[in-house]
Amino acid sequence: MPYPDEPDAPKEQLVPFVTSTYSTSKRVIELLNITQNDKLTDLGCGDGRILFKAYEMTSCSGIGIDINEDLINECNEKIQRENLGGHLKFFVDDFSRDDFDFYNCNCICFYLVPKVLKIIEKKVKDYIRNDRTRRVVSIRFPFRNWIPTIVDETMKLYYYDYTSKDGKYGNDEDMNLLPAF
Ligand SMILES: C[S@@+](CC[C@H](N)C(=O)[O-])C[C@H]1O[C@@H](n2cnc3c(N)ncnc32)[C@H](O)[C@@H]1O
Repeated sequence: MPYPDEPDAPKEQLVPFVTSTYSTSKRVIELLNITQNDKLTDLGCGDGRILFKAYEMTSCSGIGIDINEDLINECNEKIQRENLGGHLKFFVDDFSRDDFDFYNCNCICFYLVPKVLKIIEKKVKDYIRNDRTRRVVSIRFPFRNWIPTIVDETMKLYYYDYTSKDGKYGNDEDMNLLPAF
C-alpha cells in the first residue's frame, strides 16, 4: 500500500525499485570481469549503486537508465558532487520501448522480474550474438529460454555470453514473483 504522499510510479515502471546489496553489486562486476576499458549499462539502474561500485573498483565507463526521474536526478546529483561525469552518465529512459538500444556498451546488467525479462530477451540475445566480447548478468532471475554460461547459485546471478545456449532453464513458479533477496 503506498503512503498518501508517495507519488504514483510512472506507468512504464515495470518493476519496483528494490536495490541490489553491495556484495551482489561487487559480484556482478566480478562476473562480468569489468575493466577500465569496458562500458557497463544498468537497465533500470535505481540509485546507480552498481555503476558507482563498478567505477570505484575498475575506473570503467557506465550508463544508468531508469524510468523513474527522481532516481536519475539523485544519480546525477551524486556524479556532480563526486565529479564522475566523465565516466558515468544517467538518463531517464524506458528499456521496453521498441527502438531502445544499449547505449553502445559492451556489458549489461539488470535486476528485473521474469515477465519483464521476456520482453527484453530477444533484444539481449541478438546483442550478445552480434559480438563475442559482450557480456550480460541478470540479477535474481534467469531468462527462461537460455542456459547461463555461469550461475552463482548463492547470490542468484546469471551470466550470459556468446557461448550461452538456447534451452529451458528456471522455474514457471517464478513468473509471478516480485524482486527481493
Ligand atoms: C529492482 S530495481 C533494480 C535497481 C538497480 N539495478 C539495483 O540492482 O540496485 C528495478 C529498477 O528498474 C526501473 N524500471 C522499471 N521499469 C522500467 C522501464 N520500463 N525502463 C527503465 N527502468 C525501469 C525501476 O524504476 C527500478 O529502479
